[in-house]
Amino acid sequence: MLVLGIETSCDETAAAVVEDGRFIRSNVIASQVKSHAEYGGVVPELASRLHTENAIPILDKALSDAKLTLSDVDIVAVTSGPGLIGSLLVGLEMAKALSYVLKKPLVPVHHIAAHLYSPFLDAEEVAGASEDFDYPYLGLVVSGGHSSLIFVREPLRYEVIGRTLDDAAGEAFDKVAKLLGLGYPGGPIIDRLSEKGDPERVSFPRPGLKSDDCHLSFSGLKTSVVRFVKKWREEGRELSEQEMADIAASFQSAVIDTLLTKTGWALERTGAKRLAIVGGVACNRQLRREARKRLTGIELHIPPPILCTDNAAMIAGLALTLYQADRTASLTLNADANLKLL
Ligand code: KG4
Ligand code: ZN
Repeated sequence: MLVLGIETSCDETAAAVVEDGRFIRSNVIASQVKSHAEYGGVVPELASRLHTENAIPILDKALSDAKLTLSDVDIVAVTSGPGLIGSLLVGLEMAKALSYVLKKPLVPVHHIAAHLYSPFLDAEEVAGASEDFDYPYLGLVVSGGHSSLIFVREPLRYEVIGRTLDDAAGEAFDKVAKLLGLGYPGGPIIDRLSEKGDPERVSFPRPGLKSDDCHLSFSGLKTSVVRFVKKWREEGRELSEQEMADIAASFQSAVIDTLLTKTGWALERTGAKRLAIVGGVACNRQLRREARKRLTGIELHIPPPILCTDNAAMIAGLALTLYQADRTASLTLNADANLKLL
């Protein structure tokens, strides 16, 4: 079965073809990062406009990379939420038009459920893809909008063990980078800068480790960084490059410590023996290293970075399972900016 996936929930216009829920035949992503960078974050109106411009060229490239034509497609899948409503609608309307014209089933996909599916994907060009990833597993979802711990007992059965209480992990990276005047998106910049910094220079709080639940909150940590930098500046001190790197590394280390401690608790609580770390923040090199070091005695899978950040292969991949469970939609399908997972 060949599934065409379309993803436009935020600032990446993406289309992909996945065969049999697993083999990536093409995976095309047009990132809008450069266009939003000058504003310091995603501008929703600009995102929708760029999706409209990019959607058809990206679709054409996904088909030509896969050496297919539209008539080869068996299922059309699209992210229906959560995300920016104007952005979601661009992909959704394109998917509906394709489904109608091709007379092929339309499958709506939840963006976070799709991130959770990413460890099942395999691509020859992607080194390190898992051969035997399977259910049940615990998923640590760390993206720009979410940081949650979700136990996936079997296909399409999600149990939220820990949820995002305020700022998501990626959001905290982006906001702290903005505060330090480092640019957008903050995650990759802080990741790189931290390599040169001392993570023990500032002892930032580990948010939420005093309570024993698995929920994730990063707004307090972000505020501590804000206060620290403000105090420094009030004293009339300029942050040197090394000090900036030390603050970045200390902040990153607090995020990672919190994420991995709570993940450890969630593993104990669920008895899960398999863990996947997914979403954009899973690209973080220190998080990948620390997770391998700290979370032993389980099967750990962190997809290659290209499958961690937003992509349509994960949409096309999960869609086959949804289709087999009769979770198709009619052409009255609408996007839902706050779509719930359960
Ligand atoms: O999953 P994703 O591409 O989009 C959403 O669904 O939100 O995640 C984007 C987030 C951004 O906040 C970005 O700063 C963060 O992932 N990110 C990283 C890294 N690469 C991307 N955070 C930390 N380290 C990275 N290397
Ligand atoms: Zn995402």
